[in-house]
Amino acid sequence: MAINEDTSLSNRHTCVTAATGGGKSQCMYDIIPANGVRAVFWDVDKDHDCLRFTDKRRFLKALNSANKSGKPFRVGWSGDDDQETFLWWCSAVWAVLDGRKDTYVVVEEAADLELGAGKAPLQFGRIIRRGRKYGAILVTCTQRCQEIPKQLLTQSAIVFVGLQAQHDAKYLAKMFPIDPETLPRTEPLQFYRIEKGGGSKVKVTYKHRNKSGQRGRRTRKKVA
Ligand SMILES: Nc1ncnc2c1ncn2[C@@H]1O[C@H](COP(=O)(O)OP(=O)(O)OP(=O)(O)O)[C@@H](O)[C@H]1O
Ligand SMILES: [Mg+2]
Repeated sequence: MAINEDTSLSNRHTCVTAATGGGKSQCMYDIIPANGVRAVFWDVDKDHDCLRFTDKRRFLKALNSANKSGKPFRVGWSGDDDQETFLWWCSAVWAVLDGRKDTYVVVEEAADLELGAGKAPLQFGRIIRRGRKYGAILVTCTQRCQEIPKQLLTQSAIVFVGLQAQHDAKYLAKMFPIDPETLPRTEPLQFYRIEKGGGSKVKVTYKHRNKSGQRGRRTRKKVA
């Protein structure tokens, strides 16, 4: 159960959308501080640096003890990627939210969860709609903007829009100040950054691949 509701906290939810290879994961590395924060990841493709778990019991144990420690943490789920597991994960996240502490809640590739464009299921919907009061900073990304709960696009304080197929560009242009004609020709790692109705163009810098060719920041190796 989320605790210490604080209605004065602002909405800092961020959504990143681009076709595959558009640079979403790289963009998320810029959004989520590398150190010193509480962060929980839905990261079935292992894009992010975190302690990763594939066993539910071990995940819950690690998340709870990290939460109780009072220290920063990065705990991620890289196990089953079905919708039921995702909703279980959302409930586990909800249980550690605390209005006195920020918690990054990171969801990689939301469209794969097949939630559709309608209302999000309760477990995810309450993080989207009420999470900010409990310190949640929801950071989501998707390749397919028309297949995620529309709330993720409309309720996020900041939206990054990168390379898109024509039909997705047209869909997004109905919501955001972007040019649906030039968007499909956008280079990877280039995004429109939309905040408070205004848009600016930003270029994300590719972070690195480590020596073994893996993506992202890979300093933590533990998988349980
Ligand atoms: N030095 C580099 N090494 C690898 N990729 C690079 C480099 N510089 C730029 N890139 C670009 O970064 C992109 C990969 O970014 P990223 O993994 O964030 O994409 P993504 O949108 O998350 O893709 P996916 O949806 O498949 O996960 C590549 O498509 C490539 O165009
Ligand atoms: Mg990615």
